[in-house]
Amino acid sequence: MPVCSKIFKRKRTTLHIFSTFASNFLPESLNFKSKMEILKRVFQNAQKYQKRIVLPEGAEPRTLRATEIILNQKLAQIILLGDSEEIKRVALEIGVNVDGATIVDPRNDPRREAYAEIMIDIRRSKGLTKEDALDLLNDPLYFAPLMIKNGDADGELAGAINATGDVLRPALQYVKTMPGVSVVSGAFLMFVNDPHFGHDGILVFADCAVMPEPDERQLAEIAVTTARTAKAIIGLDPRVAMLSFSTMGSAQHPLVDKIVNATRIARELDPELKIDGEMQLDAALIPEVGRLKAPNSEVAGRANILVFPGLESANIGYKLVQRLCKAEAVGPVLQGMAAPINDLSRGCSVTDIVNMVAITANQAASLFE
Ligand code: ACO
Repeated sequence: MPVCSKIFKRKRTTLHIFSTFASNFLPESLNFKSKMEILKRVFQNAQKYQKRIVLPEGAEPRTLRATEIILNQKLAQIILLGDSEEIKRVALEIGVNVDGATIVDPRNDPRREAYAEIMIDIRRSKGLTKEDALDLLNDPLYFAPLMIKNGDADGELAGAINATGDVLRPALQYVKTMPGVSVVSGAFLMFVNDPHFGHDGILVFADCAVMPEPDERQLAEIAVTTARTAKAIIGLDPRVAMLSFSTMGSAQHPLVDKIVNATRIARELDPELKIDGEMQLDAALIPEVGRLKAPNSEVAGRANILVFPGLESANIGYKLVQRLCKAEAVGPVLQGMAAPINDLSRGCSVTDIVNMVAITANQAASLFE
């Protein structure tokens, strides 16, 4: 093939990836430049770094379809966990080719003994025995974090057929948090159909996925890590609103005090961060309301990161915006873990899996923190 056609073919392939990502991931009304910036960063980095992403739900049909796409588009190296015969049978049944993936069966992998020793080291104080460890390793959701811990994989994505808690617990127990961070949380990139909100219609919500009742310090950490995630993925200049039912002292309640204290702690953790609170949602997002209720705030009325007081409000909040406003919700992008481990919704599509593998690969390349 002549060199120029090769280049053209490569360009077309790349553009195809971008447009597939765009059409499935981002609503058309968004500013095109913003979309392309995000797409370029996520996909080009994934292709460049070729990270090893382990998928514990190896025989799950959407996972296999996504694997074929990921391999064809060279977004990552894929490790599928499960029974090799079953994985091959399902792949054949649904007509996908996953020959480029590495298949690992946790029940008879030669690294089990080594992994069991690592597990015992980490959880000796919790009374974990070798027998318990070997038993847990039969479960791909435990085997995958141990692969990461032992340097045999760079990131993990699961949740197509497992609940969030079941995906997260082994990761929290064995991979744990990154240095200087005590809490893992989950951010959603929200793409709303009105460019007046956030950054051209892009906002980041947290913690929508992990910590049911964060205390002041944990809430502060969630704010700081979410700002970092938003900066890294979207290139946002973060403006963080710490949400409450009160704005700047309009109500007196211990729950309000908690948000005020969390805001203060977040400022101590990151003195450069533009963060304000406590504030109500309208004060955070609507310039006129922000000016009225928080006239001295550099965040009020123009927030692009919303930190909710707890998991209940955050999880309900992102789903309200997603469903009632037909916004795209991308995530949860888990932040604060020592290695990238992400969780899927059980209702996820093949495209969601492809996209989250690309995001996980970017995190593995330390491009997101
Ligand atoms: N960050 C860091 N470490 C944590 C966190 C956290 N957020 N949460 C728990 N841990 C640690 C604990 O300290 C503990 O460590 P240790 O065993 O070394 O002492 C370990 O993780 C296990 O924690 P437990 O509290 O014993 O485990 P639990 O069974 O409560 O699981 C979990 C923790 C899974 C995160 C739980 O809080 C949970 O289920 N959260 C809600 C998840 C969820 O359902 N989200 C909504 C759906 S997602 C969606 O809609 C997008």
